[in-house]
Amino acid sequence: MLDPTPSLYRRLGGYDAIAAFVDDLLPRLTSDPQIGVYWKGKCTDSMRKHRQLVVDFLSFATGGPVDYRGLDMKTSHDGLRISESDWNVFVKHAVATLDDLGVAEPEKSDVLAVAGSFVGDIVEAPQSAGSRA
Ligand code: HEM
Repeated sequence: MLDPTPSLYRRLGGYDAIAAFVDDLLPRLTSDPQIGVYWKGKCTDSMRKHRQLVVDFLSFATGGPVDYRGLDMKTSHDGLRISESDWNVFVKHAVATLDDLGVAEPEKSDVLAVAGSFVGDIVEAPQSAGSRA
């Protein structure tokens, strides 16, 4: 029997809509004065691969028929020391992108909820004072 509830992937408009989201969001992140540093020094080809992985991951995570072959979120962000404050900057840009692309509720909240479901894997738990190099 057909599932009567379309996936978030379908409600957003499928692969091309997700690619448009990533193509709008990534430049905001990489040029941000606080978190742009995480992508500093990456060559064009490395950024192209990164962009493709993020498109595939989001397509997969929103229920699309995409076989994500990249690393899991914990492994790919481990050691970057992404802070809660960095995460809040990311969310601010994601909201701006969703608004600029005209993504309406409930899809807007659903995209943020999908991203938010990985916060525990991406943000590193604050360490006690003095434990960081
Ligand atoms: C503050 C927020 C974030 C920052 C600063 C960040 C930063 C990064 C960086 C620098 C890499 C590249 C690692 C490398 O190539 O060596 C990466 C990989 C990746 N990120 Fe993030 N990220 C953030 C949030 C997210 C979110 C919310 C998602 C998706 C829900 C995501 C999905 C990915 C994927 C799919 C990869 C590639 C995995 C692989 O290499 O196989 N990231 N991230």
